[in-house]
Amino acid sequence: MAVQYQCAMSLDGFIAGPGGDMGWMAGYLSPDTSAGDLMAGTGALLVGRRTFGGDDPHKGTEHEGEPYGGGWEGRQFVLTHRIPERPVPGVTFVDDLERAVAAAREAAGEKNVGVLGAQVAAQCIEAGLLDEVYVTVLPVLLGDGVRLFSHPGGRSVRLEQLRTVTTPGATSLLLRVVR
Ligand SMILES: NC(=O)c1ccc[n+]([C@@H]2O[C@H](COP(=O)([O-])OP(=O)(O)OC[C@H]3O[C@@H](n4cnc5c(N)ncnc54)[C@H](OP(=O)(O)O)[C@@H]3O)[C@@H](O)[C@H]2O)c1
Repeated sequence: MAVQYQCAMSLDGFIAGPGGDMGWMAGYLSPDTSAGDLMAGTGALLVGRRTFGGDDPHKGTEHEGEPYGGGWEGRQFVLTHRIPERPVPGVTFVDDLERAVAAAREAAGEKNVGVLGAQVAAQCIEAGLLDEVYVTVLPVLLGDGVRLFSHPGGRSVRLEQLRTVTTPGATSLLLRVVR
């Protein structure tokens, strides 16, 4: 099992457009992507609060609000400093990174923990808790938005390529974080 940062990225390195816009992805969501394998290998999700409450590329469809646009079942652990009073079925809100990662790992069992959200993924890297990056590169330039990885002042993180999956219209890379 691995703690795996999972995202779709524009060719110029953004996972969301300005203001967290996810509408840009709508034109690239096809059944031909490698999302099916990704979902099958994922046992639990560690999700940033902005991702959880943010824009949804599946907005307006019957699968709006569902991880991966539907078809995946499992527990979600959402990191936030502001735990909501109302429970959400299948979702555990956690206010501490290490506790959230430990709980997600336990829930995932033999499968991977999918990390959704750039800020949370960056913290996992910083804490030495991230094992892999699975990124699907989409053929679009966004020019501005939320970067896949942001570290003001710069920070190199060495990655080793494990696998490339090419599907019509997209290329996905599986990379290992070298520690
Ligand atoms: N292209 C893709 O595949 C893809 C995938 C996922 C997400 N996205 C998009 O990318 C953007 C991600 O946004 P982001 O990277 O800015 O945010 P994020 O990682 O999704 O969420 C950040 C938030 O998580 C909470 N948080 C982070 N670390 C915490 C900690 N250690 N303890 C407690 N709470 C913590 C804080 O929420 P509180 O303010 O509530 O404390 C923080 O504001 C969104 O627009 C999302 O829609 C794209």
